[in-house]
Amino acid sequence: MIDIHTHILPMIDDGPTMVQESLEMCRIAVNDGINKIIATPHVQNGMYDLDANKVLEKVDMLNQLIKQEGLDLVIFPGAEVHLNDRLLDAEILRESSILTINGGKKYILLEFPFQWVPPETEQIIFKLKLMGLTPVLPHLERNYRIQRNPHMVVRYVEMGAILQVTAQSIVGDFDAAPLKCVLWMLKNNLVHVIASDAHSPVARPPILSRAVKIVSDMLGEEAARKMVLENPGTILEGLPFNK
Ligand SMILES: [Fe+2]
Repeated sequence: MIDIHTHILPMIDDGPTMVQESLEMCRIAVNDGINKIIATPHVQNGMYDLDANKVLEKVDMLNQLIKQEGLDLVIFPGAEVHLNDRLLDAEILRESSILTINGGKKYILLEFPFQWVPPETEQIIFKLKLMGLTPVLPHLERNYRIQRNPHMVVRYVEMGAILQVTAQSIVGDFDAAPLKCVLWMLKNNLVHVIASDAHSPVARPPILSRAVKIVSDMLGEEAARKMVLENPGTILEGLPFNK
């Protein structure tokens, strides 16, 4: 499986605070059947706050340790970019290829606030698509406003956005609202990718298999596999998305 949304690099955001924790997360991922991971540290306060070299250095360092341990796993660079109106500045995006998934300039992981939906969301999706960048929208099932108006995501999908839900929402590790919302999205065939959004080895581990089992029972094995293998692979390689 391929996990496109993780906070697995040490000492860069609210993910692991030690290299040993990152490595433990890698072991958990491999045990779960994950062999490719995109590291997506938060970019909370605007583009220039991300030190691209730091991300690449940490990805290299972790990949070396993974090799030394003999784990069948590769980490790729990326970022979780906080959605705000600075994204309307095409120059900022062009200069910052690290902000896209694997530096491919094809897919960008956009983080919504949890309490509200920015009024410029549709405008940003539209402009990104015009630039040839497809937005991947993570864990909208955890957004307070979308939980109350889940139909909002239909418009985003129609505009060409990719919906990524969190594995733990499907398993029911959060409260009832994200579970209800994610089940609605799944039943309406709106979900393209399941990712872990892992932050730690214990509370937020990189585990996808439990969610895959639930989705397999709901929608069939093929549909579930597409959400953790084919679709994430398309995004990682920067290929055109086949919905
Ligand atoms: Fe995240």
